[in-house]
Amino acid sequence: MKYFIEVWGCQMNEHDAETLSGIIEERGYSKAENYLDADLILLHTCCIRAKAEDKVIGRIGVLSKLKKKKKHLIIAVGGCMTQQEDVARYIEKRFKEVDIIYGTHNLNEFASLLESAKADQKQIKAVSDSEGMDIREYVPIKRNDKLKAYVNIIYGCNNFCSYCIVPYVRGREKSREIKYIIQEVKELLDQGFKDITLLGQNVNSYGKDFKDGTNFAKLLKELDVLGDYRLRFMSSHPRDFDEALIDVIKDSKNVCHQIHLPLQSGSDKIIKEMNRGYTKKHYLDLTEYIYKVLPEATISTDIIVGFPGETEEDFQDTLDVVEKVGYDQAYMFQYSIREGTRAAKMTEQIPEAIKKERFQRLLELQNKKSLERNNKMIGKIVEVLVEGFGERNNLTGRTSGNKVVNFKGDKKLTGKLVWVGITDANTWSLFGKVKGE
Ligand code: 5AD
Ligand code: SF4
Repeated sequence: MKYFIEVWGCQMNEHDAETLSGIIEERGYSKAENYLDADLILLHTCCIRAKAEDKVIGRIGVLSKLKKKKKHLIIAVGGCMTQQEDVARYIEKRFKEVDIIYGTHNLNEFASLLESAKADQKQIKAVSDSEGMDIREYVPIKRNDKLKAYVNIIYGCNNFCSYCIVPYVRGREKSREIKYIIQEVKELLDQGFKDITLLGQNVNSYGKDFKDGTNFAKLLKELDVLGDYRLRFMSSHPRDFDEALIDVIKDSKNVCHQIHLPLQSGSDKIIKEMNRGYTKKHYLDLTEYIYKVLPEATISTDIIVGFPGETEEDFQDTLDVVEKVGYDQAYMFQYSIREGTRAAKMTEQIPEAIKKERFQRLLELQNKKSLERNNKMIGKIVEVLVEGFGERNNLTGRTSGNKVVNFKGDKKLTGKLVWVGITDANTWSLFGKVKGE
């Protein structure tokens, strides 16, 4: 029996899919190369923007047709999208071919859902709310990579940024006990993993719910001494990310000087309307301190254009921050109405054409900045963790700052750290030559 998982959305979702893969493989399935070869297909969904949801509905349509020809095929649809009651109901009614509908808090029951679906032909829906749910440890995880691994440290979000649906579909913040995180990282290092990313909607909130003084800085310090490896984390919240944490990063051996700090908007008025709890000045001071203490740091961000009420002047504030910070990378989005959030009810929604036009201008500026940042790397010698062959028979790998580097070399270097002299750059990656060759 073969299975295939299609994943939309963030790293958290990608990692959830690794957990689902582990659970499914324990039931005797193996991964199919192609969805057409699979006996079980999962759509692990995202609902952060309308576009993501539309794509999934299209895919369910395609798979439903496939099932008419392939009767024994089991189709499961789940994750953030189906965690919304109305969406789950819509899929349940509209697509009878879907066998399993599961929520974000029901991954651990997937094995029994699968058994029930195989035993009888009835559609099953398992969507729980998060209250009172315990974090289950010791779930099997089938990781997609041999070098890089994700480790969950905190689930859910308490922030309720006014545009965001995440708190509604992922529930309240719940930190994972430090001993389990340490154990998982130790095991990963024993298995040869070299690059570990700690995951959470807001990693800076880590430990607050324990109310015993545990916090993110303490976690980083404990993980830092476990070996020689690269330790990263995402995402941070500019309200909670402070100078003390930057100092902890500086004093650490393994924490990469790579910081993902979502800006969302550069306008104080819009930041307030978004319920983000900082100001443009606070954000700029923070990034200035990052560069002062960690001069080689790479900073990336998330930005939304066209939030309700955003004027040209507000948008100029966003461009101003982009200009001043000089992000290495930015994930940019046009505001998308999410039913149930506070911003969905705001009256001054921005016309699509204006969102699009602002997005284009932002993209142009950011591309210019990315190129500037990458060009600054030319002439430097950087340590690269080699991931294998990429395009045009070049080896590819990443710097500690997570920049992609392409260079000629032997396949044997895969999984190793090598020093590479940077000779050229474009907007998205660097090119170089291995030192000593
Ligand atoms: N519209 C557009 N972008 C959004 N994001 C979250 N909600 C929305 C929305 N309603 C973006 C934010 C967040 C990233 C993961 O997705 O920038 O940081
Ligand atoms: Fe959404 Fe804000 Fe939580 Fe990020 S911090 S998941 S943007 S509510």
